[in-house]
Amino acid sequence: MSFDYKVADLGLAEAGRHQIRLAEHEMPGLMSLREEFGASQPLAGAKIAGSLHMTVQTAVLIETLTALGAEVRWASCNIYSTQDEAAAAVVVGPNGSADDLQGVPVFAWKGETLEEYWSCTEQILTWPGNDGPNMILDDGGDATMLVLKGRQWEEAGQVPPTTEDDAEEFTVFKALVRRTMESDPTKWTEIAKQIKGVTEETTTGVHRLYQLAEAGELIFPAINVNDSVTKSKFDNKYGCRHSLIDGLNRATDVLIGGKVAVVCGYGDVGKGCVESLAGQGARVIVTEIDPICALQASMEGYQVARLEDVVGQGDIFVTTTGCYDVITAEHMAQMKNKAIVANIGHFDNEIDMAGLARTEGITKTEIKPQVHEWTYPDGRSIIVLSEGRLMNLGNATGHPSFVMSNSFANQTIAQIEIFTKTDEYANEVYTLPKHLDEKVARLHLDALGVELTELSKAQAEYLGVDVAGPYKPEHYRY
Ligand code: NAI
Repeated sequence: MSFDYKVADLGLAEAGRHQIRLAEHEMPGLMSLREEFGASQPLAGAKIAGSLHMTVQTAVLIETLTALGAEVRWASCNIYSTQDEAAAAVVVGPNGSADDLQGVPVFAWKGETLEEYWSCTEQILTWPGNDGPNMILDDGGDATMLVLKGRQWEEAGQVPPTTEDDAEEFTVFKALVRRTMESDPTKWTEIAKQIKGVTEETTTGVHRLYQLAEAGELIFPAINVNDSVTKSKFDNKYGCRHSLIDGLNRATDVLIGGKVAVVCGYGDVGKGCVESLAGQGARVIVTEIDPICALQASMEGYQVARLEDVVGQGDIFVTTTGCYDVITAEHMAQMKNKAIVANIGHFDNEIDMAGLARTEGITKTEIKPQVHEWTYPDGRSIIVLSEGRLMNLGNATGHPSFVMSNSFANQTIAQIEIFTKTDEYANEVYTLPKHLDEKVARLHLDALGVELTELSKAQAEYLGVDVAGPYKPEHYRY
């Protein structure tokens, strides 16, 4: 079989396959969904455009979706996050070879330019014979944005002119839609018509979806996978607890113990990051805008301060906010010599990289890919990871398999929900029902040797719940 694809090197497929095989062992949620739904093929007919970091764990997700009957095209949702061996292995497929591709069209490699990035996103939405996609699986919302903004601009007959405020990303994105409008003026309108729905992975993408729904611009249903408890309270927290310091170590190998680490944001990601830095013996300072999260950080024993007041103390700075301009060029100019600056939030605008580059007399030296030293005219320098993009995927390989099995089991169930029950969903943003959230957790207990206590019928009646769950009301916060 042959199909269009674009990856760094198909020769890496064997190495990727070994890693995928080991990851499968650590992803009991996905593997049991394959067992449960393999025969009934609930995703037969689903044509999924996937935009999510093309890692080994994502390879197991992709092959779960295809095992359930889906056809898939895939791109990464970040220019640095692809693991090239995983991308190659997915294209070749478990039983294929370089001469006989039996896998899935993937358009992703580590170190894409922004133009290449958006072109890959276009590729996953452009199916042979225009026969698809009918589902989007998104991380950060870029694939959804391309379809919805593309359609909106087609209807308006033009793309709004680029402004000075536009991030470089957005300028390139607008250029892409301008180009498609010239060659095919109804491309995105036609694609949008076929989409039954989207399932969104992360906080930032979910935020965009709620904004679209509020503005009445969401034209298909969406499932917010991020806010399944078994996603945000696990992947965002325990995943980052693991992969933040993995990224720091691979990038710099600096000893974390004894250092002052400043973590901006104490949400789910921030909590995981702070715990791992403190676990390594760093003295952690938190910045927050939300009094509840600030109080939480304080009760956990961390100093909570304003960035401008502690910017000269930090050895390591990490942004986890999903906000923008959190670390400005002015902040960076006041940092200690060789301070490390990193972002683990979804977009690179948390750190003002453009402002840093504009600093008078500054020079940039590549220490190694995704690690840059920026030197000020007075000889002091700071180390910036992954050009300000999410560093756990740019400098390391993202979250480990077991935690991603939770996230991706939610993704798979969410795809089945929208694809098989399209009529039951309006054009709004939904979270998965609690019994499915509990199901995802259950799928991961055996692997960890967890023995769950069972309620008696009388105890269940006393608590006012069913013996089989759900055990908590919707408003419970875990
Ligand atoms: P969250 O909403 O739980 O936490 C963000 C926190 O930052 C909030 O408590 C908020 O009050 C605080 N904040 C906002 N603006 C701030 C500012 N200017 N200064 C200080 N604090 C500020 O969101 P969550 O789930 O922690 O996600 C954060 C970001 O990380 C999002 O962009 C999300 O998409 C991304 N993410 C990245 C992952 C990765 O593997 N790199 C994994 C999961 C999420």
